[in-house]
Amino acid sequence: MISTALTKLLGIRVPVVQGGMQWVGLPALVAAVSNAGGLGILTALTQPSPEALRQAIRETRKLTNNNFGVNITLLPTINPPDYEGYARAAVEENVRIFETAGNSPGKLIKFFKSQGCIVLHKCTTIRHAKSAARMGVDIISIDGLECAGHPGEDDMGGLVLLARAAQELNIPYIASGGIADGRGLAAALAFGACGVNMGTRFMCTKESPIHQNIKDKIVAGTELDTIHIFRTLRNTSRVYRNKVAEEVVRLENRPGGAKFEDLRELVSGARGRLAYETGDSDAGIWTAGVAMGLITDIPSCQELIDRIEKDAERIIDGLARMKLPDDRDATKAKL
Ligand SMILES: Cc1cc2nc3c(=O)[nH]c(=O)nc-3n(C[C@H](O)[C@H](O)[C@H](O)COP(=O)(O)O)c2cc1C
Repeated sequence: MISTALTKLLGIRVPVVQGGMQWVGLPALVAAVSNAGGLGILTALTQPSPEALRQAIRETRKLTNNNFGVNITLLPTINPPDYEGYARAAVEENVRIFETAGNSPGKLIKFFKSQGCIVLHKCTTIRHAKSAARMGVDIISIDGLECAGHPGEDDMGGLVLLARAAQELNIPYIASGGIADGRGLAAALAFGACGVNMGTRFMCTKESPIHQNIKDKIVAGTELDTIHIFRTLRNTSRVYRNKVAEEVVRLENRPGGAKFEDLRELVSGARGRLAYETGDSDAGIWTAGVAMGLITDIPSCQELIDRIEKDAERIIDGLARMKLPDDRDATKAKL
């Protein structure tokens, strides 16, 4: 077993978190991840109201006795959802682990900490990670450029971000973006992270609620099959490279560019959701990361997490065996 600050803080067996996923982070997947020894996370905003989130939490509890969390993503939008309502409903339902993501999380973090909850905050820069640490979050989830969804605007790959996290952070952090196997977990631990966060890999599991065709697309896809949209709007998002995403980028790159209004219909959440429901991979925009290149099958969450744990342990043992006895000690002993 691999014991880290993450397994201890969250009361989980394997240091693997399933990050919040719009339209995907539903009770069956969340419970399957938690039952398998990781931390499943429900996505609050996938539920149409705080009351619906309450029901989703109850449904998840029927499916697992293990800990799970709730993600609240703060969106850059003019008409924000009732974040406080979602947060209150989850706390009232006795959820004690939260993943926050997005802009200006201070108020939410303060509320969760005042209720004795554990907060993982996802960020893509060291500056934001340090600021979240000052706000009192317990764990930073550090998302590199490889990640599905929003990588920020700095184009900083996971290797340097994680090494910078090791230099700069004095609270636990987990590695996120581009991780799909035991090799990724072992590497994250070597970088000083106390675990990993995965999205794309969990989309492609038996218990993931999306259409089989989309799972097959992920298996067939490579690390070259994603694209960044919204780059010109400074709200970059990595999504599956389909006809709709390519059209969005084409409009963004035309002379004079594009305003969000020009793209609104193409990128609507309802169309993206349709892809997951009907299996039509060109129905709308749907999120996926370059970890797609590492995904070759559709295991159950239990099979996946067992495999990641075993492979990471094997790699860690192998690394320890690379270290030969130090000649200098032998020389010293002779003298
Ligand atoms: C389908 C999908 C939807 C996502 N939706 C959200 C979301 O609503 N909020 C959020 O904080 N992160 C979201 N993410 C990002 C994941 O939580 C995670 O940070 C990311 O997937 C890590 O990169 P990976 O896919 O390479 O593992 C989403 C990811 C995917 C694949």
